[in-house]
Amino acid sequence: MPDKKIIAVMGATGAQGGGLARAIAADRNGPFVARAITRKTNSDKALALARLGVEVVAGDADDPPSLERAMAGAFGVFCVTNFWEHFSAEREGAQATAMARATRKADAQHVVWSTLEDTRRWVPLSDTRLPTIHGKYKVPHFDSKGQVDHVFAEEAAPTTYLLAAFYWENFIYFGMGPRKGPDGDLTLALPLGSVRLPGIAAEDIGRCAYGLFRRGTGTVGQRFGIAGEILSGAEMAAKMTGALEHKVNFQDVPFDVYRSLGFPGAEDLGNMFQFQAILGDEFLRSRDAAISRSLNPDLLNFDAWLTANASRIPIA
Ligand SMILES: NC(=O)c1ccc[n+]([C@@H]2O[C@H](COP(=O)([O-])OP(=O)(O)OC[C@H]3O[C@@H](n4cnc5c(N)ncnc54)[C@H](OP(=O)(O)O)[C@@H]3O)[C@@H](O)[C@H]2O)c1
Repeated sequence: MPDKKIIAVMGATGAQGGGLARAIAADRNGPFVARAITRKTNSDKALALARLGVEVVAGDADDPPSLERAMAGAFGVFCVTNFWEHFSAEREGAQATAMARATRKADAQHVVWSTLEDTRRWVPLSDTRLPTIHGKYKVPHFDSKGQVDHVFAEEAAPTTYLLAAFYWENFIYFGMGPRKGPDGDLTLALPLGSVRLPGIAAEDIGRCAYGLFRRGTGTVGQRFGIAGEILSGAEMAAKMTGALEHKVNFQDVPFDVYRSLGFPGAEDLGNMFQFQAILGDEFLRSRDAAISRSLNPDLLNFDAWLTANASRIPIA
């Protein structure tokens, strides 16, 4: 494979980067090979990637020199950070900044940065509709990504911006799935504020990133917001009813109630949902299924995702 270009993938052992590494590996006649960057080169997920033919190298976003070594020789780099590992917007910003600078040092030609909106552009700290968190954020796990976009623009290799949507896998892993009530019926409870929610199969995010690398550096500087489908709470509940063969009702939880649930990140997520409701149609326009399908023709809609995943949704 001497003429193939290397795409170095941060988060390759996770959902977003994993989808990209698998998409590259699956396209055997494609122009790229994947290189997975991980802190744990011997983990089960790293070894599974190696079995697909993905090169696995050590790199830690908290250790900038290790990133420069890991990205050396790469044509492209996919950058993603994991806020939920440490819940620190400052640390996430530092990790993203280190990645951005390392892509330039590695002389990469194309970066795809998985970012999100800095919500304070729309809802400044003085706006009391959303409580301010830690004195300087409205939606910490969004703001921390969006606030380093300028670092990618100024200090990274040429960058394309990818904005993911709510993973439908949150219904499996993130405790957001339907819960059983005393009457035996299931309730999907989310704070949507009556607006529809752009959602996506997690694997499709990396596949869309692959579409961006395939499309080439003409996308540099552009923002691509992706989604598999945009659905109301009632529509998601109805589709779950069919897939789970069990009645699922939708309950729109008040934002304040959701913020006070007490689990780690509840305030952040409550503000995130309310931010999406405040933006309304503008937020829906920022995540586009047609654009996503043009990047990734196999994009799943919610029905297709449910067909493959309904049996994995835990019914609590
Ligand atoms: N859940 C959603 O609905 C949703 C929607 C949009 C955006 N997001 C964003 O998605 C991000 C998480 O992405 P994901 O879901 O793909 O992650 P994930 O599946 O939880 O996996 C985390 C990945 O990050 C890597 N990682 C973490 N810290 C690292 C470090 N210091 N150095 C190198 N690699 C590191 C891990 O690699 P190793 O452990 O192998 O080193 C792993 O591959 C979050 O920031 C979240 O805000 C989530």
